[in-house]
This record gives sequence, structure tokens and C-alpha cells, in this order.
Amino acid sequence: MTTDCRGFEIAPWHLRWCGLDLEALHRTESIFALANGHLGLRGTFEEGEPVGKPGTYLNGFYEKRQLPYAEAGYGYPEEGQTVVNVTDGKIIRLLVEDEPMDMRYGEAVEHERVLDFRSGTLRRNTVWTSPTGRCVRIRSERLVSFTERALAAIRYEVEPLDDDLELVIQSDLLANEPVPTSHNDPRLAVALDRPLVADFCAARDFAAVLVHHTRRSGLHMAVAMDHELEVDATPRCSVHAEEDLARLTVAVDVAKGRRVRLTKYLGYGWSSRRSVPALRAQVDAALAAGLETGWDTLLARQREYLDNFWSTADIEIDGDPELQQAVRFALFHVLQAGARGESRAIPSKGLTGPGYDGHSFWDTETFVLPVLTYTMPMAAGDALRWRHATLDRARRRAHELGHTGAMFPWRSINGDEGSGYWPTGTAAVHVNADIADAVVRYLAATGDEHFERGCGVELLVETARSWVSQGHYDTAGNFRIDGVTGPDEYSALADNNIYTNLMAQRNLDEAAEACVRQPDIAEQLEVDAEEIRGWRDRAKCMYLPYNEKLGVHEQSEGFTEHARWDFAATPPEKYPLMLHYPYFDLYRKQVVKQADLSLAMYLCPNAFTPEQKARNFDYYEALTVRDSSLSAAGQSVMAAEVGHLSLAFDYFAEAALTDLHDLHHNVANGLHMASLAGAWLCCVFGFGGMRDHGGELSFAPRLPANIERLAFRIIWRGSGLAVEITGDSATYRLLSGDSFVLRHHGRFTTLGNVAVTLPIPRQSDRPEPLLPAGRAPYRRG
Ligand code: BGC
Repeated sequence: MTTDCRGFEIAPWHLRWCGLDLEALHRTESIFALANGHLGLRGTFEEGEPVGKPGTYLNGFYEKRQLPYAEAGYGYPEEGQTVVNVTDGKIIRLLVEDEPMDMRYGEAVEHERVLDFRSGTLRRNTVWTSPTGRCVRIRSERLVSFTERALAAIRYEVEPLDDDLELVIQSDLLANEPVPTSHNDPRLAVALDRPLVADFCAARDFAAVLVHHTRRSGLHMAVAMDHELEVDATPRCSVHAEEDLARLTVAVDVAKGRRVRLTKYLGYGWSSRRSVPALRAQVDAALAAGLETGWDTLLARQREYLDNFWSTADIEIDGDPELQQAVRFALFHVLQAGARGESRAIPSKGLTGPGYDGHSFWDTETFVLPVLTYTMPMAAGDALRWRHATLDRARRRAHELGHTGAMFPWRSINGDEGSGYWPTGTAAVHVNADIADAVVRYLAATGDEHFERGCGVELLVETARSWVSQGHYDTAGNFRIDGVTGPDEYSALADNNIYTNLMAQRNLDEAAEACVRQPDIAEQLEVDAEEIRGWRDRAKCMYLPYNEKLGVHEQSEGFTEHARWDFAATPPEKYPLMLHYPYFDLYRKQVVKQADLSLAMYLCPNAFTPEQKARNFDYYEALTVRDSSLSAAGQSVMAAEVGHLSLAFDYFAEAALTDLHDLHHNVANGLHMASLAGAWLCCVFGFGGMRDHGGELSFAPRLPANIERLAFRIIWRGSGLAVEITGDSATYRLLSGDSFVLRHHGRFTTLGNVAVTLPIPRQSDRPEPLLPAGRAPYRRG
């Protein structure tokens, strides 16, 4: 078995971890998390302990918390939101002749877990010898259903290996379970100390239900469990429920070599409005449907759902088995984060851990949604519907900040601003344009007019309106947007951040176009011709700072005149810089936390000439330290475009392995959805050279030496497209749907029923750019 440096078996369609490593528990729980966008279960053991961080999450379910400020200021959000670890239904404890099964004691003779990207399940196989020498095999398999959104199920089997044994199985619903804290904010500790207040509990036969609400946010949640038991002998069973615990107990004598098998079904739901009886009824019904469906059919449906997904979304990489696995792992988790969110946000950690308080950021629109738009467009539309559903809050926030239109939050669960750090909470305004960009991409890729009329136009109009008050014309007639925080958070309150200005420009133009396409909706939104003219003019006059002397664009006005950060004098242990140097110092130096201008060049490719792209890229590479996991993917895409293919490959590997190799040392808190999605961006937008502007799909593929063949699939306007790239040619094949026109290295081709193979023009190598000392991309081995 070949394993990676962290002990995962390298295999194309699954991730296997053998052996018990208590130190690795936090990490593997995030990596083995199962979710469907609505419900998420961290990969903790059934027996509950040992545990790194227990975690069961319902998307959108949060508790309010007070936000800490040393000094008050106008417009600071007073209350934040934090994700709650809801009632844990994963727990199935086992007693073997009175000894609790706990792998910290006795011996785990065999122990492995497998996350299977095709079955959509997490399997476990453990042989455990108790401290007094009793030996059992435990097998389990669990799923969070993609097809029945409220449902999870666990099949759990125990087999005595040496002797007949008395086994006791306790299957629990446990609310307010203790969660070890990894933060030092006492206010957060208060919010999360026993956050659930009991409303109702009941138990009967093999089933039980618990209903709770959160103390401050007043949201209600319910969970119900039911079971099927298969065993030769006659079991003694009892069930009971109290406020924070419901338990089914099964005591049974099992002969050596025979098995007891318990299948546990869980139904979860939450609501801000529904009553306790209504919510209880909802989870009971979900459970009844689950039982009716049964384990085998649930498994089969899960498999079928994933077969469909992979048939339209798979990526194949020949030449690097570890990256092949990493990319499928990444796609699997992106799917898990967004598949059934259904008008809820996609948090930056998905539903894999409590990191970033469970908030969503621009990560969703700029990194995750491009992937979903081309692989599972419905899920992308749903995530944008969530933004639309929060428009009133965004309008209120704009009003509070003195702006027109809507201002979407930098980070949030419910649509209210949750950032207590004002240089982002009030100044990272690019999030508005990022949302607009995702709307434009989604509309171009799907032609979903229903969405456009119901949500898209309004999102574009209200975000466009915000730029009118956020910017102004200077005496030379330029439209400027001053005092913003761009993607690079090591510059704040900068004037004319080029990323923000270019994305705002697109936002203004696209709002105008959408209003022309849908005049009746525009009228409902009280948009008139003069307003449209105003947007177009601002877009036309948008100021894009450029340093003539250096021949490069300025990330923001004056940036290239700042002192350079002294990279040579910065030792490796001082990264990430924000934890070791004052922001004040970072803000006034040339040092870039994460791709900013490079991201602008990839998202707005027509705003730069090829020569400018190459020069800009090299200039900013020397300053970019990648203190954010969002950086590597954008750098990879642009490195590939400007001809640094081997650097592009290294950044790709870094993005793809960020979580599997725990490169930022925080996977314990959840996976990084943006960098997982980024792995896809590197393949499709980077090596595939795909661009999607102006309603047109173009490709400029080029492979680095380390990849022999790259194949990917996307959905474009309902048609399935397969692209296969080798060293010297690319083949485009229509898998389904109508023919369409695409561009390959500048040449137009109509893709019909016959696959088209086109040569890849040669590109001369360019010398690699200088990188900040000690900040070369992660290189394996
Ligand atoms: C990055 C942001 C990102 C956030 C959440 C920060 O470190 O700088 O761009 O949105 O993490 O992932």
C-alpha cells in the first residue's frame, strides 16, 4: 500500500487511513466528515471517545455571540453568529462484557477507515481487544444522504472473534456534548456553553426524538432516531429520553463468529419559525421515509447520485496518483458542502468543522461557485438564492454605512455582517462585486432565465447601486473607489484596488445589460435609463492605476512606491505575518498576503495585454507570501497562463494538498473549501486555460511536464463537454446536449457530434519569477 506523508493510502477513488493515531484525530475527523450541504457530521468514532472535536452541524443553525471591541465605533456589528454543534446522533457506544469499547485502552489490533468518493460513505473496520483480552470486530458504514436531505444513517456491526460475548450497545442522541475549546475568547465560550435548551423529548420502541432551541438566536432544531436490529439471539432492549439524551439500549449474547447489526436512521431539521410540534413532525416524517427506503436503497441512491456527479464532473490526472486522489477528494468535499444547501450559504469550511465560526465569505462566490456552476449548476443557483434571500439585510447594512443599494457582509451565517474587524467588515467591499460576478457566470453558463428574473437582475442592480456611492469622479474624470480592502488583507483602506475596481466595473456593466435584457424587472426595481447611463459611464471611467516606469499595474494606487517588506530578514517561523508583525507595518509595505492582482488578471482577462499579465505576474510573485489558503490556486491559474508551467504545477499541488497534508496546521477546525475548489480551478482554468467571459467559452490548454494527461468534464448551457489534454493536443467531445462554439487557443470551433482534436501551440519557457525568500510553493518529498 503506498501512502502519502500523512499516512493516507494513495488510491484513485477513496481515502484510507490505517491504524489509530490519537494525535491525528482532529485532522482526520475533518477529512472524514460527511455532509450534504444541509447536514454535516464530523468523522468522529461511533463510540464518542477518543475524540478530537465532536461536530454535527445544520447549515444556517447558529447561536448569537457578542463581538468584542476594545473601543467602540459606529457601524461595528455588535452581535456575531457562531455555528453550533447540534445534538449528536452519531454516537453508538459498545460494552463488551462490561468493558466500554474505547480504543485508548486495550489494543486496536486492526483499525482502518475509508472515505469512499463513489459510494459517498465512511467505512470503518476495527478489531479491538479489551484490556481483559476479549476480542471483537466492529464494522460500520455511515452516510449523509444526498437524496434525502434530512437523513443520515449508520450501519454498525459487532462480531465476537474469540468467544461468545455479552454485548451492550447504546445508541444515543446527545445534546450539549462537551466540546474542547480551541479559542481564547470568553464571550464565545459563554455563547457555546450548553447552547441548546430542551423543548421536548420522547421515546418509544426503537425510536426517540429530541427538540431544542438556542438560548439567544431562538432557532429550533429537532433530531429523531430509529433503528433496525438484526441478531440471532433474543436481545433485551429499552429506550428512554430525557432533556439532553435519548438512548436505545440493546443487550444481547452473541456467539463467537455471529454478529449483531444495528442500523440507525437519523432525521434532522431546524427552523426559525416552525413550532416544536411542527418540527418534531418534520423529523419524524423524514425518518419514516428513511426507514421505508431502507439501508440498501439509501446506499444505492447515494451511489447513483455520485455516479451522476462523476459522470459530469470528474477530473482525471495521469502522471501523479497522489494529485489524482487529492482532486477527487477536493471535488467530493465541494459537492458535500453545496449539494443540498438549498438556499443556504456555503460556509468557508463547509460543514466539516467550527472554523471561522461557520461563516461564509467571498470564498463561496469566487472559488466554490465556479466549480459548482460547471459541475452542479443547480447547487450554484441555490447558493446565489441564499444571497438573494438576504438582500434586505444587505440593504439595511448599506443604509447604515451611508451607501446606496446593498452591501453584503464580509462574513456571515444569516446575512448580517459578522466581522468584528472593521478593515474587512466595512472595507472589503469587493464581496459585492464577487457576488455579481458569480451571478454573471451562472447566467452565462446556464442561461437560467427564471433565476435571472427572480434573483439575478436584482442582485446585479443592488450591488451596482452600491458602487455609485462607494466611488466618485476625480477632477480628471476618473471614477475612483478609495479606501477599500482588496483580497490582499496586508493592504487595507487602499485607494483604487485594481481587483475591486475591475470587478466593480464588471458589476456596473452587467447590471446595465441585465436591465436591458429584462426591462420589466428593471422597471419594478425602479431603474431608469439615466441610472443605467450612470452605471455605464462609471464603468467606462473606472480608474486602473498603472506604474509607467515599472511597466506594471499597481495593486492599488501608490502601492509600488511603498517600501518593500524585508523578506530576507523574516525567518520562516514568523509566518503567517499577521500573527508576528503589526498590521500597521504590513499595510504600508509591499507585501501581499494572497493573490490579488493575479486574481484580477484571471477573472478580468481582457483588461490586460499578455505582456502586462506576464510583467504583473512576475512583479507580484516576488511579494506574495501566501498566508492565506486562498492564494495558491489563483497564482497557479495565472502562472499557467503566462508560461510558468512548473510553478503552476507546484501551486496546484499546494492547493490540492492543503488539507490532506494540513499545510496551514488548522485542518482540525475544518477543511478549506476555497482551496479544495481551487484545485479544480487549477486544472480547468489553469492547465485547461478555460475562460468564460462575454458569454463565450474558450480554452488555451497547456500541461506541465509532471502531468501526462488531464481530462475534465463540465456542463455548459445544459450540454456535457469532455476535454482531454495531452502534451501536444486537446480533444473536445460533446457528451450530451446541443452543439456549441468554443475557442481553442484563439481559434473558433463548432463542437457537434464528432470529437475535435486540436494541436497545442508551443510556448517558449520563461525564466521563473523570484519568490519571497523561504516562500516557495510546497514541494512534496
Ligand atoms: C482570507 C480571506 C478569506 C478568509 C476565509 C482569510 O484568511 O484572507 O480572503 O475569505 O480567510 O477563508
